[in-house]
Amino acid sequence: MRTLVLIPTYNERDNLPLVVERLRRAVPEADLLVLDDSSPDGTGAVADALAAADPQVRVLHRPGKEGLGAAYLAGFARGLDEGYDVLVEIDADGSHPPETLPAMLAALADPAVDLVIGSRWVPGGGIVNWPLHRKALSLGGNLYIRLLLGMPVRDATAGFRAYRATTLRSIGLQDVESLGYCFQTDLTWRTVHAGLTIREVPITFVEREIGDSKMSGDIVRESMLRITRWGLTYRRAQVRERLAARQVERWESL
Ligand code: GDD
Ligand code: MN
Repeated sequence: MRTLVLIPTYNERDNLPLVVERLRRAVPEADLLVLDDSSPDGTGAVADALAAADPQVRVLHRPGKEGLGAAYLAGFARGLDEGYDVLVEIDADGSHPPETLPAMLAALADPAVDLVIGSRWVPGGGIVNWPLHRKALSLGGNLYIRLLLGMPVRDATAGFRAYRATTLRSIGLQDVESLGYCFQTDLTWRTVHAGLTIREVPITFVEREIGDSKMSGDIVRESMLRITRWGLTYRRAQVRERLAARQVERWESL
């Protein structure tokens, strides 16, 4: 399976060389594509230097900070166009251990699996060095998602994933509107709705040591708003279906 690893960056100058080196070692056969939104700290130039030294590393320079979702959509479009079989998402800050990627790709080799999520919230998974408020946000977010959307996924917001190209082709990427980290939940929801199979592989998420998280109030608000909207639409449709089924039963008993 030809694999392309997408690495979104915004101000990750000192992190990028470390994650690229770990990835090249862990999955030597995979190609890497850095998705840089013209980081003011010069990450783009660092990425260019890495690409010049290694034909398996490339860079997609984007004009400005448009959010994680937009960066990944551009990366997916490129990877699908180039005929890759598997597209991987991974953070540039070292939080997602590249050493776990072979286990995730092995799980995706099962033809019955369409998406593998590197999960913090399944047995064997975990988080190192996150402050209590981030843990609470992730657990609370995932609980809200499970209650409202009823998805059988423990870590629907996770950013470490391996998609089969066929999965990305069948979940309507052209009308994804999510801009921030909500993008991850959006694609999980679309994958479930398309009737596809998700497998969670435990990972240990290690909080970054260099640079800053780009998590923000706007990102949390976008997630809350969109997830609530999807949930209400879904639950309303469920009620409508149940009422219709009951009506049919009534007619049949006449
Ligand atoms: N190109 C681009 N554009 N990259 C971005 C942008 C953007 O607008 N915003 C963030 N990134 C990159 C960062 O540079 C990093 O490589 C990666 O996306 C994740 O950003 P972080 O800011 O480090 O995320 P986090 O650690 O707070 O959140 C992680 O956990 C969330 C779930 O709890 C990420 O894995 C999220 O994707 C995930 O939803
Ligand atoms: Mn991070």
